Amino acid sequence: MTNKLKFTLKLSSLLSNFPKLQTKLLIDSLDKNNIPNHVAIVMDGNGRWAKKRGLPRIKGHIEGTKSIKRVLEIAYDLNIKYITLFALSQENWDRPKQEVDGILKIIRKSLHDELNQLNEKGIKVFIIGNFERVPEDIIKTIKNVQKTTKSNEKMNFCIAFSYGGREEITQAAKNLAKDVLEGKIKIHDIEENIFRNYLYTKDIPDPDLLIRTSGEIRISNFLLWQMAYTEFVFTPVLWPDFNKYHFLKAILEYQVRERRFGLV
Ligand code: FPP
Repeated sequence: MTNKLKFTLKLSSLLSNFPKLQTKLLIDSLDKNNIPNHVAIVMDGNGRWAKKRGLPRIKGHIEGTKSIKRVLEIAYDLNIKYITLFALSQENWDRPKQEVDGILKIIRKSLHDELNQLNEKGIKVFIIGNFERVPEDIIKTIKNVQKTTKSNEKMNFCIAFSYGGREEITQAAKNLAKDVLEGKIKIHDIEENIFRNYLYTKDIPDPDLLIRTSGEIRISNFLLWQMAYTEFVFTPVLWPDFNKYHFLKAILEYQVRERRFGLV
């Protein structure tokens, strides 16, 4: 971390009682020519946030939706073009039914309640994942949200829902093999850029920055192919506590990284 960044972060931490001033200080310190194009987030710690307060886990998930709004607002203001959130992993289906039903209820309600506002703001919504286990009414809502927002260009909001990175790659390999068998593509023509077109994220650039909250330091089967050269920022903050200040801090940390993409 550079001395300048250390100083900015120290100064901003002294301003914790003045969140607006704190946010302004960090925004002013950002290099506007080095804003990440795509930020992906593993929103972790909802359960622990609730447990610490003696609340049921679902209360943590509900509180976590406020962080989603805060992040979308600040990302929009910074002109970040893509935000991807890990909303439900394939493994999450094996949590207790009550919790899974609660998460589905939140997703159903959020997509329904926020559609108009997302659309008015010019935000295009993508939902990626394997929908085999997703209830029919949510699939209908997903289709409607994607259709309604498909021409929007101000920002892209991608929700990884019932998503698993290995499953995505396996699915892509199957579909590619099928196209080879049907003669649509020749084996010697297969290159990375061809394979990429078979992924759920075919219309989305790779993430520049991954943020994971709650102190866990792993990627948990999230965007495995896409994160080959992504910068990782891990923070101990639990997702429901994650605010604009924490987001800006992560962007500042990203900006002092030297991205070499395997070069010298
Ligand atoms: C992890 O916390 C968080 C999740 C499993 C995400 C929950 C997703 C939602 C509430 C839906 C988001 C809605 C939209 C529209 C994107 P955890 O339960 O793993 O926390 P823990 O590690 O502390 O137990």
